[in-house]
Amino acid sequence: HTLIILIMITILVSYMMLSLFFNKYINRFLLEQQMIEMIWTILPAITLIFIALPSLRLFYLLDELNNPLITLKSIGHQWYWSYEYSDFSNIEFDSYMIQSPEQMNNFRLLDVDNRVTIPMNNQIRILVTATDVIHSWTIPSLGVKIDANPGRLNQTNFYINRPGIFYGQCPEICGANHSFMPIVIESISIKNFIKWINNYSSLDDWK
Ligand code: CUA
Repeated sequence: HTLIILIMITILVSYMMLSLFFNKYINRFLLEQQMIEMIWTILPAITLIFIALPSLRLFYLLDELNNPLITLKSIGHQWYWSYEYSDFSNIEFDSYMIQSPEQMNNFRLLDVDNRVTIPMNNQIRILVTATDVIHSWTIPSLGVKIDANPGRLNQTNFYINRPGIFYGQCPEICGANHSFMPIVIESISIKNFIKWINNYSSLDDWK
């Protein structure tokens, strides 16, 4: 839409500039002309409105939640994340970075002990907050970046259409161990997710 408007403007301006070279319209006494100045000020303003309104519409449509299957609550702490699945008899756990060098299968400084498990092909709502300072729950590969503010509950949503492991980090400068509170999402099939939930509920000492 914007590109078509741009092409039209480019063609119009190119035509006017070219025609300046090839005509002989000369007016020695033309110093001001309020009417044409008014027209070429207002016309671009209207054009900008035509570009801005569809963009705003998309912006607010993207913010809308499409009937999420589960709600995940993520709480930022100095310096780890904790998660709550309040749809299932309030499952909650902390998610700490794995520090031991002997666990060589993990990405350094990027993996956690308890990953966030999410069923794929489902709309997920995530609520984000913090207990101490401002953090940010950010996973670049999912296009999710939302600040975790103390005393405030932020909401966003995402949809993963394949299984996999997705890594993120806190990009808000939140203190000495800011670099050591990674986020890991494990996207699995809904069948395995139900197994995980059942298994989790039967283990009390996970907390
Ligand atoms: Cu939390 Cu940086």
